[in-house]
Amino acid sequence: MAIVNGYKQNENENSLDILNLDQLEKQAKEIIPTGGFGYISGGSEDEWTLRANRQAFTHKQIVPRALTNIEKPELDTNVFGLPLKTPVFMVPAAAQGLAHVKGEVDTAKGVAAVGGLMAQSTYSSTSIADTAAAGNGAPQFFQLYMSDDWDFNEALLDEAKAAGVKGIILTVDATVDGYREADIINNFQFPIPMANLTKYSEGDGQGKGIAEIYASAAQKIGPDDIARIADYTDLPVIVKGIESPEDALYAIGAGAAGIYVSNHGGRQLNGGPASFDVLEDVAKAVNGKVPIIFDSGVRRGSDVFKALASGADLVGIGRPVIYGLALGGAEGVQSVFEHLDHELEIIMQLAGTKTIEDVKKAKLLNLHY
Ligand SMILES: Cc1cc2nc3c(=O)[nH]c(=O)nc-3n(C[C@H](O)[C@H](O)[C@H](O)COP(=O)(O)O)c2cc1C
Repeated sequence: MAIVNGYKQNENENSLDILNLDQLEKQAKEIIPTGGFGYISGGSEDEWTLRANRQAFTHKQIVPRALTNIEKPELDTNVFGLPLKTPVFMVPAAAQGLAHVKGEVDTAKGVAAVGGLMAQSTYSSTSIADTAAAGNGAPQFFQLYMSDDWDFNEALLDEAKAAGVKGIILTVDATVDGYREADIINNFQFPIPMANLTKYSEGDGQGKGIAEIYASAAQKIGPDDIARIADYTDLPVIVKGIESPEDALYAIGAGAAGIYVSNHGGRQLNGGPASFDVLEDVAKAVNGKVPIIFDSGVRRGSDVFKALASGADLVGIGRPVIYGLALGGAEGVQSVFEHLDHELEIIMQLAGTKTIEDVKKAKLLNLHY
């Protein structure tokens, strides 16, 4: 156990025997310090949207198909020209040093081991270059929290490009921090420096609360900002935090190369819809113009299937990976993806879908319980 500024960081490096991803939360709670666990697990206000993210997957059903003559479903896919071994990817998530002493470096190793994609957060515990190097050539995206300071934005975009990152995710749904009560109760302050902030002009994040961290991000964001970032970088710019067809079309009009449907895992606007409940409408508006990424509440192979069949090209998981990191480091992260991929393979076989392209064409039933 390493101790930084009084915060105990886990050092486990072992594979995990996983029954299901929900179970990981209970196990991780035992070993992640209270403040860190509250920050990772919590949602905003009374967490209605956080819970809705899970329940929404019951709003659609998968049609069992038995007479399709298929076996051994294949999870390979290709998104943004990147060949991937799984459509499940690691979302951008801040401060993974809260879960494990190696932070994002171990996450990158675990994701690379399954041939998946990882997104790095602006507020990572480890630097862009170190996390990219740990991926050892595996594809990564860099997520930008846009600052009012364009020198800061451009420095991060340059560093991401130099590190070989394949795409930029611009997060637009966190212009203020959601009202997260766990952080207030725990008086949570980030105990571990944030590598990208340390390097540039904004202090290192350590000792600050979430509101102070977000205060350095821009509050006023519009299509012109997307256009400016897309002009600056030659990497594809994917806009994250889209929950309405209108915003999706604004983003594409401004030059977005991808739309990322997410409600930030129920951490921002409480009272908004589950991310899965808006996916289909956003996908209809996007109409195949650019790829769609989806996250929030995905815990089962059947959830991944339903998201792909509702318009997503890539499906992200957040908290379960952080829990896997805490419990087993890089190998723990690998176990999380292997488990979800295994569940997805079972569902694909039972739904008569051999490939991810077949899943995307599958028709779901719309029966509300
Ligand atoms: C601890 C934590 C930190 C996060 N940090 C970021 C971040 O820095 N940037 C970002 O765009 N999203 C961030 N998110 C949101 C995730 O990218 C993603 O939308 C969410 O985790 C998906 O929901 P899930 O955790 O239910 O899978 C964070 C989520 C968590 C749980």
